[in-house]
Amino acid sequence: MSLMPIKIDDIYESEVLFLENEGAGVCKVKGITVFVPKTLVGEKIRFRITEIKKNYARGKLIEIISPSPDRTESLCPYYEECGGCDLRHQSDNKNLEFKRQKVQTAVSKIGKINIKVEEIIPSFKNENYRNKASFKVEEDRIGFYGSGTYQLVDINYCRLLEEEINNALSVIRKYLKENKNDIKEVTIKHGNAMNELLIDIYSTNKKDAKIKDYLVSNVVNLKTLVFNGKIVYGNGYISQISNGLMFNCSADSFFQVNGVTAEKLYETAIKEAKLSKNDVVLDLYSGTGTISSIVSSYVKKVIGIEIVEDAVLDANCNIRINNISNVKFICGDAAKEISKIKEQIDVIFVDPPRKGINRDAIAIMKKISPRKIIYISCNPVTMARDLSYLSNMYDVKKIIPVDMFPKTNHVECVCVLKLK
Ligand SMILES: C[S@@+](CC[C@H](N)C(=O)[O-])C[C@H]1O[C@@H](n2cnc3c(N)ncnc32)[C@H](O)[C@@H]1O
Repeated sequence: MSLMPIKIDDIYESEVLFLENEGAGVCKVKGITVFVPKTLVGEKIRFRITEIKKNYARGKLIEIISPSPDRTESLCPYYEECGGCDLRHQSDNKNLEFKRQKVQTAVSKIGKINIKVEEIIPSFKNENYRNKASFKVEEDRIGFYGSGTYQLVDINYCRLLEEEINNALSVIRKYLKENKNDIKEVTIKHGNAMNELLIDIYSTNKKDAKIKDYLVSNVVNLKTLVFNGKIVYGNGYISQISNGLMFNCSADSFFQVNGVTAEKLYETAIKEAKLSKNDVVLDLYSGTGTISSIVSSYVKKVIGIEIVEDAVLDANCNIRINNISNVKFICGDAAKEISKIKEQIDVIFVDPPRKGINRDAIAIMKKISPRKIIYISCNPVTMARDLSYLSNMYDVKKIIPVDMFPKTNHVECVCVLKLK
């Protein structure tokens, strides 16, 4: 029998004490910590207990008894159920403050690093900023899973997405309504260079490949279509312009989703690196080669390491189209490939996925001992952990958050590390 003094479906009233790392409000009832999403600090709320774990519980908001002055209209009809954004009810200024504080807490508590996190660089746009979306499909319904569930929320229009993606979504929705199908997932990417779309469809039935003719006729700016991993229309990529360079990007290659703000992210990273013409730079987790290409004109040589083969193909194409001759890409696992590097590296740019830098890769980064490491991260928790692993050899000089994901709890950071 549970010794918890609270039960599922119990209803409580409480005050929200603070927001946890992922933006849910934290309340205390009968000594138990309860996470209640879509609430704000200082609000008095009524909520129902939905889940009980060993040391905490989760609740669903029923009523806001006294709202916070920082509460705003979400302006989204799906907001209650959708898992797409989680802080749409928070004013933009407070959202920026929350993110800076979230980074500060991670760095101080997890990283044990004594530094004041810089002011956050805001996003250029707070709505319609995403150039990529992956939708789930169930028969004639298309949208996102609800927060923490596998329940599809049927979405007509998403306020985070660029208009071109919403337009293509309407066309696909119409097709799904008119055609029985086994499509499970659709990803749409928008390229800003030529205002073109890449659509990538996964279906359990190859007969669904007939969607090609429909999309070619009805999506005016369709550049390329991928069906079950095969290019069935166009040449397989769209193009993005960033920091004055052109980047081809195919279905499986990474490109920052908030394109305009990414320019600011890269500018900040490069400015803080204080590069010189004789530097040899390593770009770990290099994706389509954005950082390598942008950095190339400041230094002697750049080596990029990336695991996704298509991203490396794109990256090689990107240096060609941008007339860059001092960058070399290696396709492989960062931890393995970094150990094979023979040259003296002066600066490392490292921009890993959410799980952070592989522990072996960190050990080799330390062995290489560049004079500077510029660590770009989209996860303050793993970033703080990695900074603490590096901190016996490197001083963390600056941490600059960048708001790449308005209306959500997510934040990007540029960290500047200097060899002691
Ligand atoms: C956050 S993205 C950064 C990409 C690039 N720096 C940019 O700004 O567009 C992380 C990249 O790491 C790559 N990646 C993930 N695991 C990897 C690994 N073990 N070794 C090398 N690259 C990896 C992903 O494919 C992705 O392209």
